[in-house]
This record gives sequence, structure tokens and C-alpha cells, in this order.
Amino acid sequence: MPDRSEVAYFGAGPAPLPTKVLVKGAEAFVNFQNTGLSLAEISHRSQTANQILADTKAALTTLLEIPDSHDILFMHGGGSAEFSAVVLNMVAVWVEKRRREAEKDLGQDSAAIIERVRKELQDYLRLDYLVTGSWSLKASQEAANLLEPLGKGFVNVAVDSRKSASGKFDNIPAEDAWTLTQPRNQGGKTSAFVYYCDNETVDGVEFPNFPKCLDPDSSDEVPVVADMSSNFLSRRVDVSKHAVIFGGAQKNIGITDVTLVIVRKDVLATQPPPSFLHAVGVWSPPTILSWPVVAKNNSLYNTMPIFSIWIAGEVMRGLLETHQDRQLAGQEEVANAKAKQIYDALDRYPEVYQIVPDRSVRSRMNICFRVNGGDAGQEKAFLEGAEAQLLQGLKGHRSVGGIRISNYNAVDVDKVRRLTRYLEGFARKSKR
Ligand SMILES: Cc1ncc(COP(=O)(O)O)c(C=O)c1O
Repeated sequence: MPDRSEVAYFGAGPAPLPTKVLVKGAEAFVNFQNTGLSLAEISHRSQTANQILADTKAALTTLLEIPDSHDILFMHGGGSAEFSAVVLNMVAVWVEKRRREAEKDLGQDSAAIIERVRKELQDYLRLDYLVTGSWSLKASQEAANLLEPLGKGFVNVAVDSRKSASGKFDNIPAEDAWTLTQPRNQGGKTSAFVYYCDNETVDGVEFPNFPKCLDPDSSDEVPVVADMSSNFLSRRVDVSKHAVIFGGAQKNIGITDVTLVIVRKDVLATQPPPSFLHAVGVWSPPTILSWPVVAKNNSLYNTMPIFSIWIAGEVMRGLLETHQDRQLAGQEEVANAKAKQIYDALDRYPEVYQIVPDRSVRSRMNICFRVNGGDAGQEKAFLEGAEAQLLQGLKGHRSVGGIRISNYNAVDVDKVRRLTRYLEGFARKSKR
């Protein structure tokens, strides 16, 4: 039976956690801080649970330098539930803005207000998606599905990177090729938001920087929504440029069951009454996905997995302890250095390893490549050889195949070194 220290796990999520956190977690699972109770047994409304929520929020605020303008929510349902929550909450914001404007023009004539907003909705509502991989594609499909009762054409895919020469999600076209919805003064249509997935876990594509044209200084203040499920806490992020950032915890932050949402407070405060949404023909968010409801209840609208939130807090406190006042700048350096080691090893043998994404958008978290042009026998041999050395979790996502190395924060430098040695050895053998 292998010891934990002998196994190097590169799975894409759930993913490795720092051993120190697991050891402390095992103790807390049985007897939390000598209370005689497991953290999984205590009430989510207890003083202890409230303290855990507060401590985890404080650690995240410090790490990401979250400004006062934003709130932190803990939610259920993973990134997938947020695909729906984003649409329902942000369309509600769009409707409320239009309702307030109509109210200014039409006073208390509620039938006229409803009529006007209903018409504006049909004519002007758009949701902009940057589709750069499998997860942003899924999110855009969920948006189209949720808006289907209203009609078609509300989702504007401003970029679909498969439309490049290769036909694959392996690049991010230049910003001037994006067809974002024009601002209102150029034809009336306005986006409820622009959505991007910062790191595409399946395809190994990561935005190198925050897109310039989405900068609130240069755009028409369209709210920006980002899925950071798979690169959360791996680099610095300018939270102030985003209306919403979300991600499941189970890759870089903790264990499954808790979803983090960082949301600007004005989004929470710009929600119409559900009856108005219904009157104009839009779903109101189900209570469990309603950000304002979750915020009002300090993330305790219903029973939250306090153990999972505590684990996330421990991981965050570990990062703060390691990097001190350098916070995420420190972790970013480590993540970049590990990714560089792996890419350098792959690049040394281009005839054996073919990295899928373009160099300019290579993910630091999920490194996707083919062996000998995707030769099934060679890839099988690669995976079997790796398994024999306890290098695990390397099989690419079932939808794209190939090999994927997930280089999350808890994958330590020694294990990356072991893996690169294997990459070198395998390449030299297959070249012979
Ligand atoms: C980037 C990204 N977004 C969303 C999801 C969906 O997350 P969940 O499984 O937590 O619903 C994943 C899952 O791997 C992901 O990698």
C-alpha cells in the first residue's frame, strides 16, 4: 500500500490538498478543537460555525485583496449551479435597471412600465459569452436554455475560439475580433454581462491577463463575470474589475461541496421584486441560487457544509502563512515556476509531445498535450508507465483525450520534479 508521500497526484478536480490540512481535517472530523464533536456534526447556526465563516471570509479577503465594494458568498451546486445563477441574477439586474428608468419616465403607471420593459427585453437584452473552452461553452448553453421561453438570440457568443484554423479550443482570438454587444448609444442592445472562463480546465487554455477591452475604464461598464473554478488563488486578480467571480472549491481551495462567489454589492442591491420579473416573462432566481438571499443570510439560508468551508479556510491560512505579506504574488511565482518546468520538459521533445493550446494561452494549471500525435498505444503506454511510478491522475478529459497534468497549488515542487523526470525518460525511450 503506497504512502501518501509516494503518490504524486495530478488529477483535475477533486485535486490534492496540502497534507497538513488533511491531517488537521482528520482530527477536526472526529473532535473539533476538543469540543468532543465533529465539525460535520455541529449546527451551521452555532457560534463556532459563524466564526468559521467569518475567518474564511477574512482569509479570502486578505489573499485576493477584495475591496469593500464586494461581498463573499458560500453556496451549493458547484460551478455548474453558478452557470444558472449568473444568468438569473444578472438578467434580474438588467431588468431592474430598465424598470427604474421606466419608472422615472412613466411614474406609477405600472401597466405601462411592464409593457415598456417587456418590449425592451425582447429588443435589447443580450448576454455576451467568450467561448474559449468546454466550460464557457457549457455556461453559454445553459444561458440559452434558461432564456429559451423568452425566445432565441439573447446569447451573443462574442468569440468562439473553435472557429480558428484548427477547429479546436486551443487559442484565444485577439480582442479586436470579438463581437461584443454594442453599447446602447450604438443601436440599443445592451449586455446584462460579459462572461469569461479564466482557465479552461478541459482544454488547458488560460487568459494570460484580464482582457483589456473589458476594463471598466474602457468598456461601457458592462458587468464582467468570471469563472475561476480552476485557477482561483493561483495568481493575483483585480477583483474591482469584476461584478462577479465564482468557482467551486474542489481544485485549488478545498474539497467539493462549497462554491465561492464574490459579488459586487450593487448587483445585490439592484434586484426587482419577483412579481415584476414574472410580469415581464422572466424567471426569478430559485431562492437557493439567489445571491441577494444568500448574502442577506450570511450564506446560511440553508444548511451549509461547515466542514468544507473550514477546510477552505485552512488552505487559505496556509497560503498566507507561506507567502506572508506577498500573498498571492508569492503563490503566483510558485505556480508559474512549476508550470514552466513542465512546459520546458515537454518543449524539449516536440516530436514526442505536442502541447495542444497555443503558446500564448497555455494554462499554468492544466497542461494538455498529446503523445506522438495522439497515438492511442503510445498514450496508453505513457499513462501505464506513469502509474507504475505512482504518478497519477494524468488522463486527459474524456471529451478531448490525450494527457492532462493538473498543476494546482497543492502539487508541490518535488512532485513536479518527479513528473518532469518521467517526461524526459519516456521521451528519450520513445525517440530511440
Ligand atoms: C472551469 C470550470 N468551471 C465549472 C466547472 C463545473 O464545476 P462543478 O463540477 O463544481 O459544477 C468546472 C469543473 O471542473 C470547471 O473546471
